[in-house]
Amino acid sequence: MQYNFINNITSNGVKGSAILGIFSDLSVNSLSKSINATNLKKIKAAIKKSGFGGKINEKLCIYESVGSKFEKVYLIGLGDKKEYNEKKFIQAVKMFSKICKSELLENIYFDVNSFLSINIDKNWAIRNISIQVNGVDYLYNETKYKTKNKSNYQIKKINFLSFNANDSKKLKKYFLQGKAIANGIKHAKKLGDLPSNICTPTYLSKYATTLSKKSKKISVKVHSEKEMKAMGMNCLLSVGNGSKEPSKLITIKYNGSNKNDKPIVLVGKGITFDTGGISIKPSNAMDEMKYDMCGAASVIGTLSAVSELNLNMNVVGVIAAAENMPSGSATNPGDVVTTMSKQTVEILNTDAEGRLVLCDALTYIARFKPKHVIDIATLTGAVLVALGKVASGVLSNDDKLTQKLIASSKISHDYIWELPLWDEFQSELDSNFADIANIGKRYAGTITAACFLSRFTEDYSWAHLDIAGTAWNEGSDKGATGRPVSLLTHFILENAKSL
Ligand code: BES
Ligand code: MN
Ligand code: ZN
Repeated sequence: MQYNFINNITSNGVKGSAILGIFSDLSVNSLSKSINATNLKKIKAAIKKSGFGGKINEKLCIYESVGSKFEKVYLIGLGDKKEYNEKKFIQAVKMFSKICKSELLENIYFDVNSFLSINIDKNWAIRNISIQVNGVDYLYNETKYKTKNKSNYQIKKINFLSFNANDSKKLKKYFLQGKAIANGIKHAKKLGDLPSNICTPTYLSKYATTLSKKSKKISVKVHSEKEMKAMGMNCLLSVGNGSKEPSKLITIKYNGSNKNDKPIVLVGKGITFDTGGISIKPSNAMDEMKYDMCGAASVIGTLSAVSELNLNMNVVGVIAAAENMPSGSATNPGDVVTTMSKQTVEILNTDAEGRLVLCDALTYIARFKPKHVIDIATLTGAVLVALGKVASGVLSNDDKLTQKLIASSKISHDYIWELPLWDEFQSELDSNFADIANIGKRYAGTITAACFLSRFTEDYSWAHLDIAGTAWNEGSDKGATGRPVSLLTHFILENAKSL
């Protein structure tokens, strides 16, 4: 996709579609110079005829040619000017990307100014438009394993109107940030949407390895079951015992600065399918458990974004990949295993397997002397009860880190919300037969899961993101969301700044 920041449309420009934001007062006077008085008149007349009210989530397509360059004009409602904010901006840009997909727009003249207000930063706006437009060609479901109605739609060119040459260099930076994030999201969505008969732990390891082919700064190391056994990762290995697919520990290193600079370490839950194991799940919607590797997918997506942005810092991604299956060789409820940390665990429920793979990965990564560790996991159904499908849960042993993540969440609009990781919850994990039980009692399941992880993260600054509610959509737009790649990339960008 080509992109361009232009002040005015030259007469020999290609024909395309103009995109304008309109508030509910329906004023159309602050538009770019490219849309002259005659065109404005046409637009105003069309608005009047249509009954378009400029409300949020409202759109109007004026198919009649407006001026010499615009074959069509699309108006997008922004709602009441006084209530306009970043959330509404993002809603409006999402509406724009929907229009792109349904109308197959190829050459676009986007009037950025018409979407702005005093409380919206232009750079931020360009980054967000870029995330959307660079994401429109994600059409996994339509293209990959559907044999009919194949589509290979892409935007050819987007022209951002009313910018002078001085603006353009800076804005390009923000556009490219958005593009890197969009590409990271696309990796995460693709891996999430792939079914478990294709996306196995081995597939994930090979996919991660392809990142190292794209950048010299990335190296990937895959540990086999035998090597994990030698390191004492019995707890991780216990999860894959029932599966034919071998478990993998995947380490992706991005070396963007001095070797001695402490890295940010991301740890992803990569359960390529979660049947529950011997504590088997009910069959209803069990297919969605192909998404139980979305934490891992977000680690791969974020490392892809970091490498595309060529950031001058060190980031390590570690993925604990396994398939949780029942079989004659599967772990039984009540089995006791010794973790890499030497703490013993009584596996009372084999469906609480995410924490079992993560705990050994969290012990393993101490060797990287991390600045911060963030694990990302579709860990508990309970987080859906608490936060629905809007916010991911965050629990942490470092309040400063939590606050930084929340700040990045506000900028990226990839929402997270804190739950308390208090000592009062820890006794839920008491066991008569081992150091720790792998489940608590009935209540506060997201917190007791994080309490379990906290027993393995005492030596470093750590935050846990429970993305069980946010990693994929159900219903008619069923599919992976790519969250929280945007949050994590924003967080890493902020850290890169302070270097
Ligand atoms: N992968 C699931 C969590 C999950 C459930 C994600 C539903 C999305 C939707 C996880 O491995 C799991 O099964 N957790 C159990 C834990 C319980 C046994 C303590 C849960 O949440 O029910
Ligand atoms: Mn489970
Ligand atoms: Zn799971």
